[in-house]
Amino acid sequence: MHKNLSITWKVLKLFWHATGVYVVIQFFSDTYSNTFYPFIQALLLAKTIDLLTTAGQTSDLQRFIWVGLAYIFSSLLNYYLGTYEGMRNAFFQGKIELYLNILVVKKLSTLDPATFEKSKFQSLLAQTDGTIGPMVVLLERVSGLINFIIKVIIALMVIAPVFPWIAPIVIIATLPVYFISDSYRQKLWPYYSEKRSRVIRLISYVRSLLSSDSTSKEAIIFKTGKILHNKVQLSINNYLKPFDKVSEDGVEANFAGNILQVVAFVYSLYLLLNAVVKQIISIGQFTLYFQQIIALAAGVENILNMYSSISMRTDYIEKFFQLMETKKVISSPENPTSFPASDLPCEITFKNISFKYPKTERYILKNFNLTIKPGEKIALVGENGAGKTTLIKLLLRFYDVTEGELLINKINIKQLNLDDWYKQIGVLFQDFIKYQFTFKENIIFGNQEKKTNIDLLYQAIKKAGADKFLSSLPKGLEQTVGKMFDDGIELSGGQWQKSALARAFFRDAPILILDEPTSAIDAKSEYEIYENVQKLQKDKTVIIISHRFSTVRNADRIIVLEDGKIVEEGDHKKLMREKGLYAELFELQAKGYK
Ligand SMILES: Nc1ncnc2c1ncn2[C@@H]1O[C@H](COP(=O)(O)OP(=O)(O)OP(=O)(O)O)[C@@H](O)[C@H]1O
Ligand SMILES: [Mg+2]
Repeated sequence: MHKNLSITWKVLKLFWHATGVYVVIQFFSDTYSNTFYPFIQALLLAKTIDLLTTAGQTSDLQRFIWVGLAYIFSSLLNYYLGTYEGMRNAFFQGKIELYLNILVVKKLSTLDPATFEKSKFQSLLAQTDGTIGPMVVLLERVSGLINFIIKVIIALMVIAPVFPWIAPIVIIATLPVYFISDSYRQKLWPYYSEKRSRVIRLISYVRSLLSSDSTSKEAIIFKTGKILHNKVQLSINNYLKPFDKVSEDGVEANFAGNILQVVAFVYSLYLLLNAVVKQIISIGQFTLYFQQIIALAAGVENILNMYSSISMRTDYIEKFFQLMETKKVISSPENPTSFPASDLPCEITFKNISFKYPKTERYILKNFNLTIKPGEKIALVGENGAGKTTLIKLLLRFYDVTEGELLINKINIKQLNLDDWYKQIGVLFQDFIKYQFTFKENIIFGNQEKKTNIDLLYQAIKKAGADKFLSSLPKGLEQTVGKMFDDGIELSGGQWQKSALARAFFRDAPILILDEPTSAIDAKSEYEIYENVQKLQKDKTVIIISHRFSTVRNADRIIVLEDGKIVEEGDHKKLMREKGLYAELFELQAKGYK
C-alpha cells in the first residue's frame, strides 16, 4: 500500500514536470466523463420522468428549461474535455516518453566506469527500458481507481438509505471474479514485463549486430546471419507458447465468476421492481436506482481490479526510480584537499599498490611501486593482460586500489577533487569512442572550455597527423563522420584513431596518457606523431602504452611489465645492454622487419 502510494506519487511528479497542467486536466477529464457526467445524466433523466408523470398537475415548463440547460452545459463540458484530451494526448504521450529518456541519458552521463561494470546495474538498466508504458497505464489505473471510488460512494449514498441489502449482496458477488482475475493477472504479468523485456533485449541486440556493416561482413562469411535469426525465433517461441496458454486459461474461470454477478444483479432488480409495485419509489426513482446498482457493481469490481493492476505495475516501475537513485561507486571526497590549478604536471607515485578488480579474486598488481617525475616520458610495455591499462584506470581513479597508496604530488588521490584531477589529464583510451558527429566535434569534445580556440584545434589535428585526410573530407571540419546519421562519411580505422588522438592533444593538459595510440596507424604517420609527442609535449608528462617498439624506444624510461610486476626499467639503450626481456622482444620485432 505504502509502496503503491509512493511510486504513484513519484510518477505523478515526473509527469507533472514533463507535461505540467495537462496531467491535471486529463485526470479531471477522466473523473468527469466517467463518473460525474453519467451521474448528472441519471439525475436529469429521473427528474424529467418525474416531471412528465406529474406534468398534468403543475405544467411548470420552466422546470423543464432548467433540466435542458443543465443537460446542455454538462454535455458540452464532457465533449470539450474529451476532445481536448483526445487531440492533445498523442503530443503529451510523446513528450513524456522523451522526457523519461532524457532523464536516463542525464543519469547515465553522471555515472562512473565501476558502476557500469556491475552486472546488477546492467540488468537494472535493461529492465528500465520499457517502463514508460506501464507508467502511463499506472496513472490511468490510479485515476480509474479514484473514479470508481467516487462512483461507488455516490451509488451507496443513493441506494443504501432505501435498500440497505443491495450493496452487501453486490459486493460479495463481485469477490470471486476479483480473486480469479487477480491470480490470472499475477500469472500474466511477467509476459508483459521481465519475460518480454528479455525477448526485446535479444531482438534489439541482434538487430544492432546486423545493422552494422562490420557484423554483416562476418554474417556473410561465417554464415552467422541464420544462426542469429534462429536464436531470435527460438526465444520468441519460448515466450509466446506459455503466454498463449496462460491467457487462454483465464477465460473460463472468469466466466464462472460472472454468472454469480448476474444472479446478484437480477435479485437486486427484483427488490427494486417490488418497491415500485408497492409504490415505495416512483418510476423516475426506479431508473436512478437501476443505474446506480449497475454503477455499484461495476465500481466495486473495478476498484479491486484497478488496485491489483496498480500493485503489479509499481514493482516494475520501481526499477526506473532505482536507476535514477543509483550513485557512483567512486566520487570525490566531501572536503577535498585543494589542488593548485597549474599548467605544470604533477609527480605521480604508485606506492606499494596491490589491486584486484571488484568481485574478483586474482591480484592484477601486487606491491607495485613506481614514481613518475613531472615532465617524464614513460613507456609501458608488456604482453596482453600484463596490467598496463589497469594501471591507467587506477591513475584515473576509475577504481580504488585494494592496498597501498596512489599519490599525486604526495597527496592521496582519494583526497582530491576528481574534476580538478581530470583537468590535468588528456587521455586516449585503447577503446576510444568514434563519435558519429562532425569531425570537428570529435576533436573539441576533448576540451569544452577551449572549443572556440581554432589555432589549438588545427595544432591538435596536425600533431595527430589528421590534417591530410581532413582536407579530403567534402565538408572539412563540419563533415559528419561515421555512417550512423545522414550524409556521414565512414573513416578508416587509422583515420578514426588519428581523430581520437587529436582529441587527446586538443585537451592540452599537463599529463598525456596514450593507450595504444598508434595500433591502427601506418608506420610513416606513427613516426611523425611520435616525433611530435617528443618535441611538442616537452614540459608535459607523457605515458604511452604500446606494443610497437618503434613507438617506445625514444621514451625517457621504459617500464616492462609482466604479471603486474615491473621486471625491467630504463631507457632503450640501457635495456638493450641488459639483454633481458625487452631486448629479446625488441630483437624479435626488428627481425620481423629485416
Ligand atoms: N574490468 C575488469 N574486471 C575484471 N578483470 C579485468 C577487468 N579488466 C581487465 N581485467 C583483467 O586484468 C588483467 C589486466 O588487464 P589489462 O587490461 O590491464 O591488460 P593490458 O596489459 O592492458 O593488456 P593489453 O595489452 O591486451 O591491452 C587481465 O587479465 C584482464 O583479464
Ligand atoms: Mg590494455
